[in-house]
Amino acid sequence: MKPKKVEELLELTRPTLLQRIKDHDLDVPKTNSGENVFRWKHVIQLQFNAKYSYIQNMNTKVISICQNKGGVGKTTSVINLATAFSYLGKTLVIDLDGQSNLSQGFDVYLNEEDYSISDVFENTEVVNDAIRQINDNLYLLPNHLKFERWKKNNKGDTKTVFILKKILKKIKHDYKFILIDTPSSLDLSLEMALYASNYCIIPFEPQPFSLEGITNILDEIESIQDNDDIINFDLKILGIFINMYEKNNLGTQISEVVSERFNTFKTKIRKTVAVQQAQAVKVPIFEFDENSNAALDYYNLTFEILEKIIEA
Ligand SMILES: Nc1ncnc2c1ncn2[C@@H]1O[C@H](COP(=O)(O)OP(=O)(O)O)[C@@H](O)[C@H]1O
Ligand SMILES: [Mg+2]
Repeated sequence: MKPKKVEELLELTRPTLLQRIKDHDLDVPKTNSGENVFRWKHVIQLQFNAKYSYIQNMNTKVISICQNKGGVGKTTSVINLATAFSYLGKTLVIDLDGQSNLSQGFDVYLNEEDYSISDVFENTEVVNDAIRQINDNLYLLPNHLKFERWKKNNKGDTKTVFILKKILKKIKHDYKFILIDTPSSLDLSLEMALYASNYCIIPFEPQPFSLEGITNILDEIESIQDNDDIINFDLKILGIFINMYEKNNLGTQISEVVSERFNTFKTKIRKTVAVQQAQAVKVPIFEFDENSNAALDYYNLTFEILEKIIEA
């Protein structure tokens, strides 16, 4: 990315930009002619520099991405948001879906005998054996289809819903951000995720009939928020964000209704082919096509999420 674009994104003049790079000791590569070549990583780091000390001093934030409708972009958003967060602090993603799309999205394909989340639920001691490092600052607690069997066997045990919360209590302090990907159903995984989270975020695809689904997921979250039996439980709905936005009558109309009726993020993630192409080669959008609309949108969404967390 050229310095001109970074100046525009960050609303900085060239001298201030150069000064900031120096102040924060950022390692921005240069061309032969000495011009900086920026990546989204640098832009995100520069954008949040003002908040860096806040992030360094803040407690771990656990965020669930949930929506009972499938194919709305939960997994995709966990991949891209977690990547953005990992540029700012050590980040863990947790795959709570037996379909294991998140694990596969990071190119992690497990065999039955490899440690995965259900083994950790059986024996919390193996948690650090199950967690895999994806890159410098990004870690994954992967899933395997055997989790579905585990869920069936453990359904109805009232302690089960708090297992993830218990595990996170043990390892949380190692990370700044923890993002949880949940399946598209109102089941045990979702309850586990919500009890373990500080915040939840709901992706929404503007389609006919999808408005009704929002009420279901909000009711479910509210019923969990109402559980006063748990100490230190403070789950907040950060908001709904529109994904796969297309500027046409239907997309615009449904998006407007959602924004009027619910607490909605300003940023919409536009429908962008590069999102799927990036997933096919297991690369986050910021590194796959830095000029794509979706990279810019996920950058803006990251910014909005952090602002809301800081305000909350
Ligand atoms: N903004 C987007 N633009 C284009 N395709 C998208 C976008 N977001 C998600 N997708 C695609 O939609 C499909 C479903 O997304 P996914 O994240 O798996 O949904 P979920 O986890 O909610 O079931 C995937 O093929 C993904 O690549
Ligand atoms: Mg998914």
